[in-house]
Amino acid sequence: MSVSRISGTLSAEETARTEFLRKFPEYERTSRIDALRASDYGRLDALGQIYLDYTGGSLYGESQVRQHLDLLTRHVFGNPHSASPASIATTDLVEEARAHVLRYFNAPPTEYAAIFTANATGALKHVAESYPFSDRSQYLLTVDNHNSVNGIRELARARGASVEYAPVTVPDLRIDRARLGELLGKADRAQHNLFAFPAQSNFSGVKHPLELVEDAHASGWDVLLDAAAFVSTNRLDLTALRPEFVCVSFYKMFGYPTGVGCLLVRTSALPSLVRPWFAGGTVNFASVRGTLHVLAPREAGFEDGTLNYLGIPAVTIGLRHLESIGQDTIPTRVGCLTAWLLEKLLALRHTNGRHMVRIYGPADMTERGGTIALNLYDPDGHLLDYRRVEELAGLEGISLRTGCFCNPGAGETAEGLTDEDMQAGVEEGPAITLSRFREIVRQRGGKSAGAIRVSLGLVSNFSDVYRFITFTESLRDQTRLTMGDVTFDVDACRVLRDGA
Ligand SMILES: Cc1ncc(COP(=O)(O)O)c(C=O)c1O
Repeated sequence: MSVSRISGTLSAEETARTEFLRKFPEYERTSRIDALRASDYGRLDALGQIYLDYTGGSLYGESQVRQHLDLLTRHVFGNPHSASPASIATTDLVEEARAHVLRYFNAPPTEYAAIFTANATGALKHVAESYPFSDRSQYLLTVDNHNSVNGIRELARARGASVEYAPVTVPDLRIDRARLGELLGKADRAQHNLFAFPAQSNFSGVKHPLELVEDAHASGWDVLLDAAAFVSTNRLDLTALRPEFVCVSFYKMFGYPTGVGCLLVRTSALPSLVRPWFAGGTVNFASVRGTLHVLAPREAGFEDGTLNYLGIPAVTIGLRHLESIGQDTIPTRVGCLTAWLLEKLLALRHTNGRHMVRIYGPADMTERGGTIALNLYDPDGHLLDYRRVEELAGLEGISLRTGCFCNPGAGETAEGLTDEDMQAGVEEGPAITLSRFREIVRQRGGKSAGAIRVSLGLVSNFSDVYRFITFTESLRDQTRLTMGDVTFDVDACRVLRDGA
């Protein structure tokens, strides 16, 4: 496939853009993002890159990096654990960032504590370790969840809690409200029970109903809301919702810095948490001869060791960056582009009339965000290898994501994998990997263990989605044989190249 074949002619793109704007006139209200893209993200177009992995990580604006560099080069910052000028300068910026995070999520400090972590996973691990699960507690979670939420089940079980999954329905991959209602009704209100769900699926883009927080509270549950995928294109108002725990990773919101996340905890839930250990930075007092330790109150009791104190001030810069764009601008733009993309993908057909694309999850914009999971099929309905699709997209400068996106439950439901399919994987024992499992389910009826994910975000534009559609069209009438063989594999989210 040549670049010119993929790019098409400018006039074809212009015609499509005119049709798009006629259909989505509200897109014009988001034009400040075009200006921002030109001034702050010029590298995308200068390098001809089409970035479609905002759910994996958002992109930073060059001004964010410049402001951060300016801050670092004009001051002297030291480890925050002392009273020196270099230390106080750092503490002030860390506390400024914390206060800004709380304000951004409309979470007054009397109601919420903001604990800095390395990422959303670090935030979830705090909940896993410190939530007071007992042998009469329950941990209830939706099948659609990131593995970092699934993993909490291991520590819940180790403390004797029962673990239950609430199913999602096909084909829309939304929570089965009736079944969830039954499961929520099973809580022993005298115990500590935790219900976890994502505000937006990192697999299908479904926005799960936020009123579930209130439903769960009414039935005697604490709530862990995984907001990591939701907050990259939506604002979350914690005063309106009041879940006990919320996790985010800041790079998913504004690209930079990596290595900083946050656990927001309701102050009313803090006293029930039991930290399994203490560390440097978390204690008001610790003695070796006396075996005594007294944890610091609020955030400090959870921030193990030295914080990422040079990175955290860049969180303030990133939040200001998002605020300067305006609250509704990003979701409006992402909504228009996603609606167009869904419509075009569903219309793609091979010459023999068969559909080229299967979309997992909602095919329209009802309660969904800008993440689309899909697979491509050849004219005989055989699955095309998503890794080869990723590779061919990469040759055209398109960055998308393939695999299971650390969300096995949504993928298993979407593809209708049966207990027997899963058992076939289990029989492989410890040697099982996603690659091996993909091969097993392919042989068991041409199913897919994994998908292609395109996700839109902060500075997506019409050209990005147009070029993805043009790329997908270029696979019309292609088969596994004509597409060629994939030259890489992925295990445990690490890319393995042929010969590496
Ligand atoms: C919904 C969701 N939760 C949690 C995570 C984990 O985030 P991190 O890898 O930054 O810890 C991700 C990452 O993709 C996610 O999409």
